[in-house]
Amino acid sequence: MQKLIFTCVSTAFFVYFRSVITLVNSSVADAASFLNDKGLVAIPTETVYGLAGNALNAAVVLKVFEAKERPSFDPLIVHVPSIKAALLYAEDVPAVALLLMEAFWPGPLTVVLKKKAIIPDIVTSGLDTVGLRMPNHALTLELLNHLDFPLAAPSANPFGYISPTTAQHVVDQLDTKIAMVLDGGACEVGMESTIVGFEEGETVIYRLGGLTPEDIRKVAGEVTLRVNSSSDPKAPGMLKSHYAPSKPLYVVNQLTDSPVLLNDETAIICMGVEPHSTCQIYNLSPENDFSVAASRLFAVLRQLDCNAEISQIIALRVPNCGLGFAINDRLERASVK
Ligand code: TXA
Ligand code: MG
Repeated sequence: MQKLIFTCVSTAFFVYFRSVITLVNSSVADAASFLNDKGLVAIPTETVYGLAGNALNAAVVLKVFEAKERPSFDPLIVHVPSIKAALLYAEDVPAVALLLMEAFWPGPLTVVLKKKAIIPDIVTSGLDTVGLRMPNHALTLELLNHLDFPLAAPSANPFGYISPTTAQHVVDQLDTKIAMVLDGGACEVGMESTIVGFEEGETVIYRLGGLTPEDIRKVAGEVTLRVNSSSDPKAPGMLKSHYAPSKPLYVVNQLTDSPVLLNDETAIICMGVEPHSTCQIYNLSPENDFSVAASRLFAVLRQLDCNAEISQIIALRVPNCGLGFAINDRLERASVK
């Protein structure tokens, strides 16, 4: 009898926890099964982890917004396995957009194109355009090829917080809110995709990211940068405050510019040559490699946010060139206003 009671209780426990604790593994079949059942799965990409659901099902997309506590005015990117698939969801595609997709897909490029009616309005927050991206990650490409729908996926973090670059980062914040994390290791680029739109013949960068303005220019010719609006819902994720740790972060050119006194609980983020200081220094790349620095930035911000011995963060701007534009952009948005 005792054994029976024990078995019942432990089975109930298992069933309960199995239903609330997020599964973490690398099984594309498991991920596909949850997604086909209208569930949410965090997916690895080369940029950051995404919080994915069936982009063609408005009820599922609503769950994505709810899990992230994301305001409904901020549209989601739709992930596809090929250019051919993208053309199922967009129309009137400008030639320059195709050139960019051919040059950079799979990769950290999102193109904003006129949407077809099959994409529910909730995905695009009512806009008549849709952001499309083919991510460069073997597991997620395999998954997308298994599914008969594309995946709407914002970064898998609570709205406004630092984006996740490992499966553990996702679990730390979204555990129990999603069915599964498809574990694809640490994200190689570590910074979100560059978002490009096309307005009356003009190519516009809405968000700096894993591709530099120079990369885009080489293929698209002249490019306009429009990354700084804080209120226009079309201004893609470009809220002035974003990617922010809960501890105050100040961005400066040199330590003497710091608006606060440095103390034992101050961490300094830098790249290349380290400043003279007794504070704890987190060097994103001693070799001055922008790619390495970009891939480490979000993980370092999280590490500092969780470190009880740190109460404030000073970040030194990196040179404004190449990926440095995007690194400085993220630091500014993460900083105290
Ligand atoms: O690298 C990335 O892009 C990652 C991975 C998961 O793919 N995703 C990502 O999603 O960063 P999210 O939701 O955190 O940021 C996407 C941004 C949003 O800020 C949104 O405003 C913008 O893309 N966006 C999406 N659709 C748009 C549209 N139709 N027009 C303008 N902006 C759009
Ligand atoms: Mg995001």
